[in-house]
Amino acid sequence: MTATTAHADPACADKACLDGVDLPAVARRVGTPCHVYSASAIRERIDALKAALHGLDALVCYAAKANSNIAILQLMADAGLGADIVSGGELWRCLYAGIPAERIVFSGVGKTAEEIADALEAGVARFNVESADELQLLQRVASERNVIACASARINPDVDALTHAKISTGKSENKFGVGVDEARGWFAGGAALTHVRLDGLHVHIGSQMLSLDPIRAALQRVVDFWHELAAAGYAIRSLDVGGGLGVRYRAGHDHPVSIDDYVDAIRHALAGFEGRILLEPGRWLVAEAGVLLTRVIRIKHGQQRKFLILDAAMNDLLRPSLYDAWHDIVPLLDDSRSMQTYDVVGPVCETGDTFARDRELPECRAGDLVMIKATGAYGASMASTYNSRPLAAEVLLDRGHYAVVRERQTFEEMIAGEHSADQWETA
Ligand code: LLP
Repeated sequence: MTATTAHADPACADKACLDGVDLPAVARRVGTPCHVYSASAIRERIDALKAALHGLDALVCYAAKANSNIAILQLMADAGLGADIVSGGELWRCLYAGIPAERIVFSGVGKTAEEIADALEAGVARFNVESADELQLLQRVASERNVIACASARINPDVDALTHAKISTGKSENKFGVGVDEARGWFAGGAALTHVRLDGLHVHIGSQMLSLDPIRAALQRVVDFWHELAAAGYAIRSLDVGGGLGVRYRAGHDHPVSIDDYVDAIRHALAGFEGRILLEPGRWLVAEAGVLLTRVIRIKHGQQRKFLILDAAMNDLLRPSLYDAWHDIVPLLDDSRSMQTYDVVGPVCETGDTFARDRELPECRAGDLVMIKATGAYGASMASTYNSRPLAAEVLLDRGHYAVVRERQTFEEMIAGEHSADQWETA
């Protein structure tokens, strides 16, 4: 099963067309930079995942952080998906978009009492608990409200996800989850948890994983622990396998695991489990459905290198600056041009505002439209207004139609909430 990608759209063979929509026309109407997402490509991934999960009692909780635009969350809600959230803001967004609270799981090492109270009030399905302190806080907040909170212990299996260090979460040196020894103590002391039902395990070891080996190793740790707990008489009703499945950022170079092989690994590891399986994919569902449209501002012949300066920058797409991540870059040109080598950069005043170094591209001119690919995940959701650059517009495409799902921010909106210091108070 291969999902529709920006360059392989069955509706129109042209690379300038996505989900049946002409991208240069979108760029002209909406302006650049602009994040564009194909609804069909996202639905195709959802359907492929659902098909792979056939016969399992599984709930897909989309990791909202990957792309939390309301229209994307609504797409997930319409498909019956739940959500994995990590903040009060994500809870609010997901509920606003119509994802039912009973399909929402709450992860993250820094949940506050207020966030926990709001999540209990909303009636979220489950908390993925990451520390003893958080477990006690959950017990306290739940007992104050006289409700029972369902909880899973997030296990840190000390497995290397074989991905970028900044997005690895499953080594014992990382801040996430707790070791099996500590979790064992939580279950043993469970009787004191009058308002927490600790009946699940959770694991998430990292993101953009292109190999099944670390996933299998992490699952094995959790499954061994589940067997141990079951033998000791503890009922485990929920096993959450996290997210992390990688995508193709670099054509001909990245070879993602197929969704069927991924689910087979889960099916195999969790054989005999009779509770509910939770999955938290983010990137895999949305990354390859999105592109960032940007125009060439100018070419600069530096003293040593030739710079292709775009109107998109690190504030619109942080991944290359933060993780040295590769994104394929495709100029949308009508005519054939000779190849050139560029450093592809944005206008932000940082050397790190670089999308690519030494990239071979057809020769570009000022005004040319350029597509940065696979930006549907962790693109707009990680954007900022650094250098006072307003947030870019976001557009959803669906079978020949487009809808602006985030207006380009105005300067006034950019400074909303800021004041001159005309009201002084003493603290
Ligand atoms: N579940 C938990 C508990 C997570 O922390 C994450 C991602 C996911 C699920 C979803 O992972 P995914 O399926 O999207 O790999 N900004 C980085 C990625 C950070 C991921 C953080 N956690 C990037 O642009 O590569």
